[in-house]
Amino acid sequence: MIVIASDHAGIDLKARVLEVVRGEGHEVLDLGPMDSSSVDYPDFGHKVAAAVVAGEAQTGILICGTGIGMAMTANRHPGIRAALCHDAFTAEMARRHNDANVLCIGARSTGPGVAEQMVRIFLETPFEGGRHQRRVELIEIEREDS
Ligand code: RB5
Repeated sequence: MIVIASDHAGIDLKARVLEVVRGEGHEVLDLGPMDSSSVDYPDFGHKVAAAVVAGEAQTGILICGTGIGMAMTANRHPGIRAALCHDAFTAEMARRHNDANVLCIGARSTGPGVAEQMVRIFLETPFEGGRHQRRVELIEIEREDS
Protein backbone atom coordinates (compact mmCIF):
# COMPACT_ATOMS: atom_id res chain seq x y z
CA MET A 1 0.00 0.00 0.00
CA ILE A 2 1.18 3.51 -0.90
CA VAL A 3 -0.15 6.51 1.02
CA ILE A 4 -0.22 9.94 -0.59
CA ALA A 5 -1.19 13.49 0.36
CA SER A 6 -0.40 17.05 -0.66
CA ASP A 7 -1.38 20.60 0.12
CA HIS A 8 -3.20 22.96 -2.26
CA ALA A 9 0.05 23.66 -4.14
CA GLY A 10 0.52 19.98 -4.85
CA ILE A 11 -3.00 18.86 -5.61
CA ASP A 12 -2.72 18.79 -9.42
CA LEU A 13 0.54 16.86 -9.30
CA LYS A 14 -1.00 14.53 -6.70
CA ALA A 15 -3.69 13.58 -9.22
CA ARG A 16 -1.03 12.80 -11.81
CA VAL A 17 1.11 10.84 -9.37
CA LEU A 18 -1.95 8.83 -8.28
CA GLU A 19 -2.43 7.70 -11.87
CA VAL A 20 1.21 6.71 -12.15
CA VAL A 21 1.19 4.75 -8.89
CA ARG A 22 -2.05 2.95 -9.77
CA GLY A 23 -0.70 2.30 -13.26
CA GLU A 24 2.26 0.53 -11.68
CA GLY A 25 -0.20 -1.81 -9.98
CA HIS A 26 -0.07 -0.42 -6.44
CA GLU A 27 -2.98 0.17 -4.12
CA VAL A 28 -3.08 3.80 -3.01
CA LEU A 29 -4.59 5.50 0.01
CA ASP A 30 -5.24 9.17 -0.82
CA LEU A 31 -5.35 11.20 2.40
CA GLY A 32 -6.25 14.44 0.64
CA PRO A 33 -6.91 17.19 0.19
CA MET A 34 -9.79 16.52 -2.19
CA ASP A 35 -10.11 20.08 -3.52
CA SER A 36 -7.78 23.03 -4.08
CA SER A 37 -8.78 25.11 -1.03
CA SER A 38 -5.82 26.44 0.91
CA VAL A 39 -4.68 24.05 3.62
CA ASP A 40 -1.74 23.71 6.00
CA TYR A 41 0.81 21.20 4.72
CA PRO A 42 1.79 19.88 8.21
CA ASP A 43 -1.72 18.48 8.71
CA PHE A 44 -1.23 16.25 5.68
CA GLY A 45 2.44 15.50 6.24
CA HIS A 46 1.70 14.21 9.73
CA LYS A 47 -1.13 12.00 8.45
CA VAL A 48 1.04 10.29 5.85
CA ALA A 49 3.93 9.83 8.28
CA ALA A 50 1.60 8.33 10.88
CA ALA A 51 0.18 5.88 8.33
CA VAL A 52 3.67 4.68 7.40
CA VAL A 53 4.79 4.38 11.02
CA ALA A 54 1.61 2.43 11.82
CA GLY A 55 2.38 0.01 8.98
CA GLU A 56 -0.80 0.89 7.08
CA ALA A 57 1.40 1.70 4.12
CA GLN A 58 4.94 0.73 3.24
CA THR A 59 5.71 3.97 1.38
CA GLY A 60 4.45 7.55 1.51
CA ILE A 61 4.42 10.29 -1.09
CA LEU A 62 4.03 13.95 -0.05
CA ILE A 63 3.72 16.92 -2.38
CA CYS A 64 3.70 20.62 -1.54
CA GLY A 65 5.06 23.69 -3.33
CA THR A 66 8.70 22.93 -2.66
CA GLY A 67 8.50 19.61 -0.81
CA ILE A 68 10.47 21.23 2.01
CA GLY A 69 7.68 21.67 4.54
CA MET A 70 6.43 18.15 3.94
CA ALA A 71 9.92 16.69 4.47
CA MET A 72 10.40 18.69 7.67
CA THR A 73 7.03 17.53 8.97
CA ALA A 74 7.35 13.85 8.11
CA ASN A 75 10.87 13.62 9.51
CA ARG A 76 9.60 14.59 12.98
CA HIS A 77 8.19 11.05 13.22
CA PRO A 78 10.65 8.41 14.50
CA GLY A 79 11.00 5.69 11.86
CA ILE A 80 10.28 8.04 8.98
CA ARG A 81 13.02 8.72 6.49
CA ALA A 82 11.50 11.33 4.21
CA ALA A 83 13.61 12.38 1.24
CA LEU A 84 13.08 15.57 -0.72
CA CYS A 85 14.15 14.56 -4.22
CA HIS A 86 14.57 16.65 -7.32
CA ASP A 87 15.52 14.20 -10.05
CA ALA A 88 15.93 10.54 -10.94
CA PHE A 89 19.36 10.35 -9.29
CA THR A 90 18.25 11.65 -5.90
CA ALA A 91 15.13 9.45 -5.99
CA GLU A 92 17.24 6.38 -6.72
CA MET A 93 19.87 7.13 -4.09
CA ALA A 94 17.23 7.93 -1.47
CA ARG A 95 16.14 4.31 -1.79
CA ARG A 96 19.50 2.61 -2.42
CA HIS A 97 21.50 4.29 0.35
CA ASN A 98 18.97 5.86 2.73
CA ASP A 99 16.08 3.38 2.63
CA ALA A 100 13.77 6.37 2.40
CA ASN A 101 10.16 5.47 3.11
CA VAL A 102 8.59 8.79 2.15
CA LEU A 103 9.22 10.64 -1.12
CA CYS A 104 8.69 14.41 -0.97
CA ILE A 105 8.19 16.35 -4.18
CA GLY A 106 7.97 20.09 -4.87
CA ALA A 107 5.18 20.72 -7.36
CA ARG A 108 6.49 24.24 -8.01
CA SER A 109 10.11 23.19 -8.37
CA THR A 110 9.87 19.87 -10.22
CA GLY A 111 8.10 19.43 -13.55
CA PRO A 112 5.45 16.73 -13.88
CA GLY A 113 7.52 14.55 -16.21
CA VAL A 114 10.46 14.46 -13.81
CA ALA A 115 8.09 13.89 -10.89
CA GLU A 116 6.57 10.85 -12.62
CA GLN A 117 10.04 9.46 -13.32
CA MET A 118 11.06 10.01 -9.69
CA VAL A 119 7.96 8.22 -8.41
CA ARG A 120 8.55 5.19 -10.65
CA ILE A 121 12.20 4.95 -9.65
CA PHE A 122 11.49 5.46 -5.95
CA LEU A 123 8.88 2.68 -5.94
CA GLU A 124 10.98 0.15 -7.84
CA THR A 125 14.43 0.69 -6.32
CA PRO A 126 15.47 -1.58 -3.44
CA PHE A 127 17.57 -0.60 -0.42
CA GLU A 128 21.14 -1.86 -0.83
CA GLY A 129 21.62 -2.66 2.85
CA GLY A 130 25.20 -3.66 3.76
CA ARG A 131 27.18 -0.69 5.07
CA HIS A 132 24.15 1.53 4.51
CA GLN A 133 22.10 -0.47 7.01
CA ARG A 134 24.28 0.63 9.93
CA ARG A 135 24.21 4.25 8.79
CA VAL A 136 20.43 4.25 8.47
CA GLU A 137 20.18 2.79 12.00
CA LEU A 138 22.47 5.57 13.27
CA ILE A 139 19.91 8.16 12.13
CA GLU A 140 17.52 7.09 14.89
CA ILE A 141 20.05 6.83 17.70
CA GLU A 142 20.14 9.50 20.46
CA ARG A 143 23.68 10.91 20.57
CA GLU A 144 25.63 12.79 23.19
CA ASP A 145 26.89 15.26 20.57
CA SER A 146 23.40 16.22 19.45
C1 RB5 B 1 2.32 26.90 0.20
O1 RB5 B 1 2.24 28.18 -0.31
C2 RB5 B 1 3.76 26.48 0.38
O2 RB5 B 1 4.35 27.18 1.42
C3 RB5 B 1 3.85 24.99 0.62
O3 RB5 B 1 3.26 24.33 -0.46
C4 RB5 B 1 5.23 24.37 0.74
O4 RB5 B 1 6.04 24.74 -0.33
C5 RB5 B 1 5.91 24.49 2.03
O5 RB5 B 1 7.00 23.93 2.24
